[in-house]
Amino acid sequence: MTKVSIVGAGNVGAAAAHILAGKDLADIVLIDVAEGLPQGKALDMMHLRSIEGFDSSIVGTNDYALTAGSDVVVITAGIARKPGMTREDLLGVNASIMASVIEAARPASPDAVYICVTNPLDVMTWLAYKKSGLPANRLMGMGGVLDSARFSFAICEKLGCRPEEVKAWALGAHGEGMVCWPRHTTVAGRPLSELLGPDDIAEVVSRTVQGGAEVVKHLKTGSAYYAPGAAIAQMVEAILTDSHELMSVCAHLEGHYGIDDLYMNVPVRLGKSGVEEIVEFDLTEGERADLLVSAHSVAEGLKALPPEIR
Ligand code: NAI
Ligand code: 2OP
Repeated sequence: MTKVSIVGAGNVGAAAAHILAGKDLADIVLIDVAEGLPQGKALDMMHLRSIEGFDSSIVGTNDYALTAGSDVVVITAGIARKPGMTREDLLGVNASIMASVIEAARPASPDAVYICVTNPLDVMTWLAYKKSGLPANRLMGMGGVLDSARFSFAICEKLGCRPEEVKAWALGAHGEGMVCWPRHTTVAGRPLSELLGPDDIAEVVSRTVQGGAEVVKHLKTGSAYYAPGAAIAQMVEAILTDSHELMSVCAHLEGHYGIDDLYMNVPVRLGKSGVEEIVEFDLTEGERADLLVSAHSVAEGLKALPPEIR
């Protein structure tokens, strides 16, 4: 049976497990350092199987032995933002958590595709890549699918259109340095840049970039998890079904878009082997410059990694 392990049974890990279970694509292992938390949440989700009508099993554990031979490993372990915190404020604590998770998960599932979620996303994914020694196609991050979904939401709010009509592209850093591509974003096949003027575009882009902070401000005790869980499930589905779907994924850039040895969100085709292809869209000089500024913000984050963890 196909197996997906989710490390971190907190808000995001549990939401991802629930949404993924509903797709009936794999059995799920939820693992966390907190004793009882993954077991309790897994049992709770097993209780709803007959209500929602899925067959996937969900097991909770504190032991990596149960994750052995996973096809996909999702890493959501770490602390989340509180009001007033940026994703970058999480760096020190989450870097040691990410390093320890990779050390434990990798030997148990040497052939898995890994999806990092822990923030600050682009830095944590780069760290996991360096620590794991995995090929770049099998280690990626989730950020762009969520950011693009938020862009889609902001567009629907503005235009009153339906979500299915929008194909939105938010890329670059998963943070303040995020970039949106209105020229490549379409609503019922028409570029957003033809449907909205510059001021309206600036407004929907700002709503997108601030989407995570807007949720944090309401919640006060943590950050978003329903949309992040759904974004994780969408990526896992594309991998397990070998769909070759194109989406915004935090991938290792090796000269793509003129950027080297950096992880950030770019258009990626996902399939069974993970990142199958990084697709380079035609960009104007301005769009290219914005992407490089975004890459610079990620590079600055890497410099903040404690030297003993690198
Ligand atoms: P949470 O606090 O609800 O859950 C985190 C879980 O990680 C806790 O249950 C904790 O016990 C566990 N954990 C801590 N150290 C661990 C370790 N060494 N091994 C296994 N488990 C460990 O936090 P939430 O809301 O689930 O967020 C998790 C992370 O995901 C945060 O860093 C957050 O910023 C990030 N995030 C990233 C998003 C993205 O788009 N990339 C979106 C939303 C959240
Ligand atoms: C978000 O974008 C905190 O990265 C998380 O909601």
